[in-house]
Amino acid sequence: MQIGFVEAVDFRNYRTLSLAPGPRLNVLSGPNGQGKTNLLEALGLLVTGRSFRTPRIAEIPRWGSPAASLTGDLVRADGTSPTRRAVRRTVERLDDGRWQLGGEPVEWARAIAFGWQDLEIVNGAPSARRSFIDGVAGRLYPVHRSSLIQFRQLLARRNRLLQGRSGDAATRARLEPWDAQFATVGMELVNRRRRAVAALQTELARVYGALCATGGKVEIRYQTALGEASDAAALLAALERAQREEVRRGQTLVGPHRDDLAIEIDGVDARAYGSRGQQRLVALALRLAEMLPVTDAAGTTPVLLLDDALSELDPAAREQIVRELAAAEQVFLTAPEPLTVKGAAVFSVNAGGVASA
Ligand SMILES: Nc1ncnc2c1ncn2[C@@H]1O[C@H](COP(=O)(O)OP(=O)(O)OP(=O)(O)O)[C@@H](O)[C@H]1O
Ligand SMILES: [Mg+2]
Repeated sequence: MQIGFVEAVDFRNYRTLSLAPGPRLNVLSGPNGQGKTNLLEALGLLVTGRSFRTPRIAEIPRWGSPAASLTGDLVRADGTSPTRRAVRRTVERLDDGRWQLGGEPVEWARAIAFGWQDLEIVNGAPSARRSFIDGVAGRLYPVHRSSLIQFRQLLARRNRLLQGRSGDAATRARLEPWDAQFATVGMELVNRRRRAVAALQTELARVYGALCATGGKVEIRYQTALGEASDAAALLAALERAQREEVRRGQTLVGPHRDDLAIEIDGVDARAYGSRGQQRLVALALRLAEMLPVTDAAGTTPVLLLDDALSELDPAAREQIVRELAAAEQVFLTAPEPLTVKGAAVFSVNAGGVASA
């Protein structure tokens, strides 16, 4: 798929914005603080209806504005006849002071975003890797997102019960009705995450090999205390075994909220031993590896939004990335310096304005 055009009003530091991007690689360059990441955020919001940058939508409208809006065209040229979908998204302040996001989802539209914070997938805490794999699973299997919300509610409820002051037996009795549901939804999450890991694996090895000729082999594995088990009964049994300890500590100790991903380069933990450049390349490779499985699942290519993906990398790696991107469909790549890439549409971003360079 592609973004045909986008217009924005009062979006972050853009008073107005109008952009007709190219069908393949688009380079957005400009000095720091001019609006490059804001523009990627707008493109992502147009495509997916969510900001990849923040869950706090109140931050999106231009300071002092009661609303922000985006309109644009999403185009699918992969079927027998091209499909064009007009999209409008709004962020508005309601009378009661809350902020509301408006706009219809487009079921085949996907965007994959990469930014500097993605380094955390490789070198950060387990929660960064869980949200990475949940993001992938959500793009592959849209139901994943709603079951994740449901799981978080069940987990919060369970933890509240565990923190209650009643004695062991009473707590157990109150947990019981929730546990079966917790185990069912929890195991669904685990299984979808495992499938997402499996879907990434082959492409990850290929992409990392392409980006870094001397780089070795990258592998990811899903890590859970549940071992290979894949049915809800296994999670239920683990909850039962952990119950005494759970009551003592007042929190749920087994389930997908405790899982992690192992990321290895040639069998060695990338978090502990990878160089910063290697970690950046692995993080980028993880995002690029998503393209093929997401294309298969959605029936059309995702739009790639790559924020500052070339920084901190050596010239050979930068060249390989650009080569890899040339094979993709629509890509947006920001850079703080002017960048010339053969065949790319180049835009310069300056103080909330975008001009064809
Ligand atoms: N809601 C908002 N209203 C107005 N301005 C905003 C809003 N949110 C952020 N900004 C401003 O937008 C500016 C540009 O931010 P952005 O992150 O897009 O810069 P950038 O071009 O990506 O810079 P860098 O190269 O440093 O990453 C910032 O200076 C920030 O203060
Ligand atoms: Mg930026």
